[in-house]
Amino acid sequence: MSVCGTAYSVPRTRCALWPWVRTSAAVTVPLRKLPYPHDRSPGAEASAPHDGGMTSTRPAPHRVITPSILYFGTPVVVLSTLNADGSANLAPVSSAWALADVFVLGLGADGHTVRNLRARPELVLNFPAPHQWPQVEALALLTGADPVPPGKPAGCRYEPDKFGAAGWRPLRSELVGPPRVLECPVHVEGFATDLRPDATGQFVVVEARTLRVHADPAIVVGDTSHIDTAAWSPLVYNFRHYFGLGPRLGKAKRAEN
Ligand SMILES: Cc1cc2nc3c(=O)[nH]c(=O)nc-3n(C[C@H](O)[C@H](O)[C@H](O)COP(=O)(O)O)c2cc1C
Repeated sequence: MSVCGTAYSVPRTRCALWPWVRTSAAVTVPLRKLPYPHDRSPGAEASAPHDGGMTSTRPAPHRVITPSILYFGTPVVVLSTLNADGSANLAPVSSAWALADVFVLGLGADGHTVRNLRARPELVLNFPAPHQWPQVEALALLTGADPVPPGKPAGCRYEPDKFGAAGWRPLRSELVGPPRVLECPVHVEGFATDLRPDATGQFVVVEARTLRVHADPAIVVGDTSHIDTAAWSPLVYNFRHYFGLGPRLGKAKRAEN
């Protein structure tokens, strides 16, 4: 990645290796230095009020809190990647969301999954159902890295057989090397197109393109490609507690079924 005063550009250096990555021009993104809205350095408030012009004098009902984590509830995904010896690694993550067919993942920089993706960018995103939270939790303090990296939480240990540890069975993927988790209702085969450090250096932000989606017919509407939203619930990680979805509250104008 190169950065100049007004833009950064990401050369598509991996295109020769992965022909499905578009080889056209490098991506150039305008770069703007944004002020920190939370700047509370002396005088900052006086010179730059951030009240949006609101003048209410009523006390706000909200309290200022300092939560140790900000996991407001995202689906759990179990990532399959390939180890150097051809075996598979599994890692549950909750920092995962999709933009059309691009998944954005947030991974700890010292995790084994990042190491695997740097060397072998193919992956599978396995989406567990809510009742599978104990299997996910069984993977929480296991790493495929030996020795265990210093940044891992206390109690974390090396485990070369994550499938066995979770009691899950591997299922051959159709387009990528890492296997799918048979028991998970949804699998997304894909490949990482970009891995870059976040601003703190603690994390790696991964972009992954979707190659193929597999779904249990029980959560698909008839012969269509629509997920039956009444039948499917992700496993949601909500401030380190596991949840499923409650009943549907409404329907967006753009809903397709
Ligand atoms: C529900 C759940 C969500 C998690 N979310 C993330 C995440 O978003 N990013 C991350 O790097 N680790 C996350 N972790 C921790 C990793 O799973 C853990 O660090 C694991 O050791 C990674 O394995 P690896 O080192 O073999 O890649 C999560 C763990 C659990 C149980």
